[in-house]
Amino acid sequence: MEKPYSSACERNSEPILEVLKANIISSDRRLLEIGSGTGQHAVYFAPSFPQLEWFPSDLGANLPGIKMWLKEAKIPNLQQPVSLDVGKDDFPKLKFDVVYSANTLHIMHWKDCKSFMKTLGHRLREGSRAIIYGPFKYNGEFTSASNADFDEELKKRDPLSGIRSFEDVNTNMIKNGFELVHDYEMPANNRTLVYRRLKFVKHK
Ligand SMILES: C[S@@+](CC[C@H](N)C(=O)[O-])C[C@H]1O[C@@H](n2cnc3c(N)ncnc32)[C@H](O)[C@@H]1O
Repeated sequence: MEKPYSSACERNSEPILEVLKANIISSDRRLLEIGSGTGQHAVYFAPSFPQLEWFPSDLGANLPGIKMWLKEAKIPNLQQPVSLDVGKDDFPKLKFDVVYSANTLHIMHWKDCKSFMKTLGHRLREGSRAIIYGPFKYNGEFTSASNADFDEELKKRDPLSGIRSFEDVNTNMIKNGFELVHDYEMPANNRTLVYRRLKFVKHK
């Protein structure tokens, strides 16, 4: 098997790292990454946060590729990847201070996006953060012609995928106990949304 490679990761890693540095604090101990893809982001980011155990995750089929990146990089705080299918699986039974996910909401079906946000609400404690990178629509409009084309491409492959509406995501995050603390403009018409969990209320 050849080691998987994403050129987009190569391009967006540095700007995303800047956002992570501004939102991960020294007392954070564990980060869960959802939809790690190739594993490049984990390998690029984890060394900047040596106090943090970084847990990559993805659908089972992608774990061998992630493991190839990890084996080569030998980063002490980077944990073995976890098989996690959002919509089917809960997060690992550990306390996470940060959940990070890039370019996943437009791939997952909306019902799985909602399930992801619900799980965030159940599992993150007050002050923990959810950091979500990717393209979004605002007020029903794409932020660029290239994002509109990308949405069309996505829907041709899978009609239930597609660029999500910021307002839909934001409404669901608020419903699940979060406040939006940042909405960063990123290169190539992407955004990074940073949410903070408000006071934890035990769900029945
Ligand atoms: C476009 S890739 C992004 C990968 C990486 N985060 C990046 O930014 O390069 C989307 C990733 O989401 C994963 N994914 C899709 N549906 C998922 C689900 N239901 N649960 C967990 N991961 C999922 C895919 O396997 C894929 O690795």
